[in-house]
Amino acid sequence: MDGSGIAIVTGGSRGIGRAAAVGLAEQGFTVAIVGQDASRVASAVEEMVGAGHDVIGQVCDVTDPPDVALLGAEIAAVGPVELVVNSAGVMSDRMAKTLRASPEEWRRVIDVNLFGAIHLIGQFGPAMVERRRGRVVNVSACLGRFTGPGLAGGLAPYRVSKAALNALTLNFAAETGFGRRGVLVDAMCPAHCRTDMGGPDAPRSAEQGADTIVWLATRDAVGAQTGRLWEDRQPIPW
Ligand SMILES: NC(=O)c1ccc[n+]([C@@H]2O[C@H](COP(=O)([O-])OP(=O)(O)OC[C@H]3O[C@@H](n4cnc5c(N)ncnc54)[C@H](OP(=O)(O)O)[C@@H]3O)[C@@H](O)[C@H]2O)c1
Repeated sequence: MDGSGIAIVTGGSRGIGRAAAVGLAEQGFTVAIVGQDASRVASAVEEMVGAGHDVIGQVCDVTDPPDVALLGAEIAAVGPVELVVNSAGVMSDRMAKTLRASPEEWRRVIDVNLFGAIHLIGQFGPAMVERRRGRVVNVSACLGRFTGPGLAGGLAPYRVSKAALNALTLNFAAETGFGRRGVLVDAMCPAHCRTDMGGPDAPRSAEQGADTIVWLATRDAVGAQTGRLWEDRQPIPW
């Protein structure tokens, strides 16, 4: 993809989503930053506009279908969406092992990390399928894998939400023909990054975490592997 058109980045007001928004704007996308907190969205937009980027801000709770429908209507007035990056996410309570997490905690985390992506795909996916053009990048986590770092347990709602996000990715990729009908759908692990979620001592910057998002958004579609989980631009086991 040549980096033109509209890219929606949920969670674009902070952290990895914000770094992805900057990286995508540098590649020529018109970026719509989506976040819940109006002041954080406004300051991210102000900073990016100041740097000369083409960016708009949209306040939207991704867990709320009417809010996402409103987002869809506002973006439709701007133009067709080429890319959705689902980066909005929340972490579990640190003590939330399976037997300790309350039903409210399961719902809180799964609502943002899984239903947020479901709502965004439901809103913008149909036009991508219709146009036979578009990409979805779901920002997952190694903790949601069924291999390697996914096998340690703990942070149960978070791990389960990301495993489900991976399943959503694979399912939607299969339903769109694994790229054969012009739509690429992938998940990626940013690894541990210095953000509000990752904390100040994480080994990677948000920009390093966002690199694979920007790469997935802009790589050549011809012959591209899709319906995969990626880390550092490489496919990894789910
Ligand atoms: N940081 C890491 O080490 C790490 C590692 C692996 C995976 N990840 C994943 O990477 C993604 C980004 O993480 P991060 O570290 O950048 O997190 P972060 O700094 O905590 O930022 C989270 C972002 O999500 C937005 N958000 C949360 N709930 C929302 C909602 N209901 N509606 C709309 N936006 C919402 C926040 O917006 P507001 O400011 O409006 O709340 C914020 O922009 C997440 O999906 C996370 O699970 C992170």
